[in-house]
Amino acid sequence: MEIQLWREILAPYQLAVDELVVKFNHIIRESRTRGTYSPIERVEGRVKDLSSILNKMQKKDVNMNDLEEKIKDIAGIRIICQFVEDIYRVVEIIDDRSDMRILEKKDYIKNVKNTGYRSFHLIVEYEVNTLNGPKKLPAEIQIRTLAMDFWATVEHSLHYKYQHHIPEYIQDKLINASNAIIVLDQEMSAVRDEILDAQNSFRIKANLVSDILHSLQNLYKVGNRREVLKIQEEFYKVYEQDDIELLTHFGHQLDMIAEGHGAQSLQ
Ligand code: GTP
Ligand code: MG
Repeated sequence: MEIQLWREILAPYQLAVDELVVKFNHIIRESRTRGTYSPIERVEGRVKDLSSILNKMQKKDVNMNDLEEKIKDIAGIRIICQFVEDIYRVVEIIDDRSDMRILEKKDYIKNVKNTGYRSFHLIVEYEVNTLNGPKKLPAEIQIRTLAMDFWATVEHSLHYKYQHHIPEYIQDKLINASNAIIVLDQEMSAVRDEILDAQNSFRIKANLVSDILHSLQNLYKVGNRREVLKIQEEFYKVYEQDDIELLTHFGHQLDMIAEGHGAQSLQ
């Protein structure tokens, strides 16, 4: 088939991938703005490349007419989480959304593949709008921890190296590594609350500091320079003490000063 026609077929999938990446990244941003922990660590997306599509069509004996019906991973999203618990939280979030409909769920975490592969897979239906009107497309979403992603990436590159004939002794090592990663994920889950606390207080502090700097900047525009410099000195001292309560208190006081100067509404 002509390459131009392929471009037209794949264009809506590219749009779906782009939109989905934006939406999942927004979940990270929304959590951070609220100062809460994000169950998503990062998001990646890709449209399956043409040679892989052609290979798969050949392998599964799929013709052009049922390409969209039979090959569900042309649009692919990968969501990386810190902890196994986050994966199930992300599945819930997707389930609750009105712009994605889950068609298929595969839990390769509870049912580890015999290669040692672990991840949670979803096929969702997602609608894009093109010049030809709305179009519903399937997209595959793979959700995994950082550790699972590390394993899958290494295993995937070995498949390339050995052209899918990985020697048995390496396969055994991969299974061992996969088992070690199960333990690692469990250990990480056990310290999850500690890590979440640390991350949350880091986020809260970062948000507070950003608000304070913003207010100081506004005060510069309307206030007395010497006064602002003094406040800034004070801020450095409070900041050095590394105490969220003190910082919060400082933020409130600064808000009041800014209000007095009518600097609050400035952007
Ligand atoms: P397909 O028709 O090939 O999609 O079969 P399927 O739907 O049964 O596939 P499955 O959901 O098992 O896997 C789909 C994707 O998951 C693959 O394209 C890979 O990206 C990934 N995957 C599945 N198994 C493995 C594995 O053993 N190792 C690695 N590295 N990735 C895997
Ligand atoms: Mg699949």
